[in-house]
Amino acid sequence: DLGVYRHYMQKEIHEQPRAVSDTIEGVIDGGVDVDGLFGAGAMEAFKDLSGALILASGTSYYAGLVARYWIESLAQLPCNVELGHEYRYRDSIPDHRQLVVTISQSGETLDTMEALKRAKELGHGRTLSICNVRESAIPRASKFVFYTRAGAEIGVASTKAFTTQLVSLFTLALAIAKSRGRLSAQAEHDALEQLRFVPGSIQHALNLEPQVQAWAERFALRDHALFLGRGMHYPVALEGALKLKEISYIHAEAYPAGELKHGPLALVDENMPVVVIAPNDQLLEKVKSNMQEVRARGGELYVFADLDSHFTESEGVHVIRTPRYSGILSPIVHTIPVQLLAYHTALKRGTDVDKPRNLAKSVTVE
Ligand code: F6R
Repeated sequence: DLGVYRHYMQKEIHEQPRAVSDTIEGVIDGGVDVDGLFGAGAMEAFKDLSGALILASGTSYYAGLVARYWIESLAQLPCNVELGHEYRYRDSIPDHRQLVVTISQSGETLDTMEALKRAKELGHGRTLSICNVRESAIPRASKFVFYTRAGAEIGVASTKAFTTQLVSLFTLALAIAKSRGRLSAQAEHDALEQLRFVPGSIQHALNLEPQVQAWAERFALRDHALFLGRGMHYPVALEGALKLKEISYIHAEAYPAGELKHGPLALVDENMPVVVIAPNDQLLEKVKSNMQEVRARGGELYVFADLDSHFTESEGVHVIRTPRYSGILSPIVHTIPVQLLAYHTALKRGTDVDKPRNLAKSVTVE
């Protein structure tokens, strides 16, 4: 049932245009409207929110980190994102007008489930789950539910679950914005229009596979890698580093690029490949100056740019261009090449891609 693919992970990476379009089908085919997506009463419950609190683990937590940008900028709602296992053991100050959002592919992750229980004990009533498995524990314990339609994810490393979580969280940001009167009909229409392009842009990014594979040959010979991004693309850097360490066992770390000179720059020399997520957004100039800091120390740069970002390959600077800059949805498209890089690096190193050592698909223990 792998078809033309060697591993489930590769198959699931390639399923993303389909997984994403299935997930947003109801949104964009249903008369261009975000009302009703999150269940009866959701729009009413979003109306007087004071904030959002997102709880998740691992890759799902990174989806939450991206969502924070969307929720704060589109819905103008303060948003915190926290790892479930941290939240549940600390004395937080509950604000019952917050929306508590859990994100989980499996719906069974104990850390996230216990965080949700803790939030409910603290009196939180407005709980919403974004989940890929119907009727699993976390959605069952939540008031509102949105199911991603990624289909079964078998590879231990999460791929299509992540991108479908992202599109779901984007529609959540739109729904909250709308119920708070912060989204004009035109803005809603435009945002959904942008969303419609995402599966096609993902497909374009997938077509970069041979180029990414060539980079992977070099990464496979390294023991360390650094991933940099800024703003909405910092979580993409985190996701790239997590995928790489998880399946290829190469030590990888991610930093917001502005943090380099506060410490990690000391690690950079000719043996440190540095992956940079550099779309043509308002932070590009800043990212470029961080790239120069790396080059000045002899670090090799591997840059994921898009068709609109202006810079060229040069000595020690390798560039792969994803499709045109996709605006606020750009983190979704930029996720694809970092997944492919991890996959092909692991393949080269001969690790067990679908079942990396020491890890389980669903983490139901503490
Ligand atoms: C990484 C990965 C994990 C999961 C995490 C949460 O590739 O798969 O980090 O994202 O264990 O799992 P879910 O989303 O099932 O709650």
